[in-house]
Amino acid sequence: MKLAIIGGGPSAFYVASRLHKLLPQTLDYRIHLFDRLWSPHGLVRYGVAPDHPEVKNCTHKFDEAALDRRLRFFGNVNVGDNPSPLQHTVKLPLSSIFSNYSHVVFATGCTLPKRHSELPPSASCISALSMVHWYTQHPNAPSPPSLDKLSHVSLIGNGNVSLDVARMLLTNVDVLRKYDVPERVLDVLAESTVKHVSIVGRRGPLEAAFTMKELREMINLPDASMVPLAPELLQPSEGVPLTRQQTRVLQLLSKGSKNTFGTTAKTWSLDFYRSPAGLMVPSSENTRSQLSLAHTVVDPATQRAVPTGETSTVATDLVVTSLGFHGEPTAPYFDPGLGHLRTLSNRIVTNAGTTLRNVYGSGWASTGAHGVLAATMMNAYDVAETIVNDHMNPLEGTEGVLNPDPSLEEIPEEVVHGIRERNIVEYPDWKRIDEEEMRRGQVLGKERERMAWDEARLLLRPSV
Ligand SMILES: Cc1cc2nc3c(=O)[nH]c(=O)nc-3n(C[C@H](O)[C@H](O)[C@H](O)COP(=O)(O)OP(=O)(O)OC[C@H]3O[C@@H](n4cnc5c(N)ncnc54)[C@H](O)[C@@H]3O)c2cc1C
Ligand SMILES: NC(=O)c1ccc[n+]([C@@H]2O[C@H](COP(=O)([O-])OP(=O)(O)OC[C@H]3O[C@@H](n4cnc5c(N)ncnc54)[C@H](OP(=O)(O)O)[C@@H]3O)[C@@H](O)[C@H]2O)c1
Repeated sequence: MKLAIIGGGPSAFYVASRLHKLLPQTLDYRIHLFDRLWSPHGLVRYGVAPDHPEVKNCTHKFDEAALDRRLRFFGNVNVGDNPSPLQHTVKLPLSSIFSNYSHVVFATGCTLPKRHSELPPSASCISALSMVHWYTQHPNAPSPPSLDKLSHVSLIGNGNVSLDVARMLLTNVDVLRKYDVPERVLDVLAESTVKHVSIVGRRGPLEAAFTMKELREMINLPDASMVPLAPELLQPSEGVPLTRQQTRVLQLLSKGSKNTFGTTAKTWSLDFYRSPAGLMVPSSENTRSQLSLAHTVVDPATQRAVPTGETSTVATDLVVTSLGFHGEPTAPYFDPGLGHLRTLSNRIVTNAGTTLRNVYGSGWASTGAHGVLAATMMNAYDVAETIVNDHMNPLEGTEGVLNPDPSLEEIPEEVVHGIRERNIVEYPDWKRIDEEEMRRGQVLGKERERMAWDEARLLLRPSV
């Protein structure tokens, strides 16, 4: 078995880790992970909020999997036939994967933010992903948001990503200094004039997408307070049974924030039953954007938000859309209806409905952008089991696209060339950078100080 895993996020490492456990010791196999990012771990490095350092403990398991001599990681490699969204990547066509490997797992995640038809991107309307890319200093990080010119921010969507962004805007910069927040990001946050963050949800408290832990963190923010919710919003309809989570959400929201509203310089609100209906960007008459919101109710039959016909307008300085994510429409086996790759029982299925032999999808690439790391791990473990089962008992009626007998030791020639050009990061390279980032962080009294690719490359190859 010679397996290529496309993507080097948590799902890829969990599949590899599980395969190390499940595959018979007598089987000589290789696992090669390719990521277009120069560093491994996907959203664990470029997604998870800096004030959640414990979440990143999963990287110890990934390090363990990478220590196995049968696994190699190749960072800075964009797999596919389309241009890479990142600079400096080595291009590895899918045909090269197919001719060099006997097995493939697509673990490419859901890398694009969902957009809202009424909220086209502009200087006044950005995606939460661009905020996340900025504060994690992703290789595609946009220029910093002008936080020194803003007072009111509207976040559209009330999932956990929305709450991550809200916490970053409402937490005192001195609290953030000890975490993995790059110095240049701290500099911008220190100048922030943001006073209020409104978190807009098209449905009600019972349907909110955030989870309890993240809501509790908002409620307990040391330097911000929540606008109290109207009591009628916290009254469930009679006869509607509540889940444990829903009961706890209502209890927490009824109590309100730890700080009484009005006693803090920064405030936030949960604005339920509001759906964006348009945005007028600043003009000579209005210095602030005008966000139109359609009032909604939840249809008990479908659980969907439906407009009541009423609307209101909110003056705001920045709209940040946090509506979830989807896969890349140009990716092979992408299903536009699903918004991610088409799989059946973890196996990739073509447009024509044919199951491909030894070709799998794992993590958000296959499930869509739902669930926390624990769910991604469980899915990856299941994928690993499917791979092993198929290896032991090959499925009938599948179409072969891979090389059934590749040389175990060879790596694709594009990658060999990239290594020669010193463009590719392997796992031992990453561990050197990781250690150096932590050392730099220690000097500054924080978890780590991140490097950009130019700096990391210089550290690895001083002569380049
Ligand atoms: C902003 C944010 C914060 C989160 N915070 C938490 C949290 O605190 N706790 C928690 O439990 N979960 C959190 N999650 C969820 C968690 O990150 C996901 O469950 C998990 O990352 C999914 O793993 P994955 O490997 O499927 O995708 P990803 O982590 O997205 O990894 C996919 C990888 O594939 C690579 N890739 C894509 N296309 C190609 C290509 N063509 N060639 C080469 N490489 C490619 C990408 O560069 C990426 O590195 C968060 C998610 C987001 C978006
Ligand atoms: N700390 C953590 O554990 C953590 C941190 C970040 C992310 N994650 C996980 O990562 C996954 C993705 O998180 P996410 O916050 O990006 O997505 P999410 O949980 O799916 O939330 C998306 C939000 O956008 C709203 N929305 C979507 N389309 C909309 C539209 N057209 N108009 C108005 N509102 C719309 C949704 O409302 P509806 O519900 O009405 O559709 C929901 O409130 C989740 O599973 C999340 O738990 C976890």
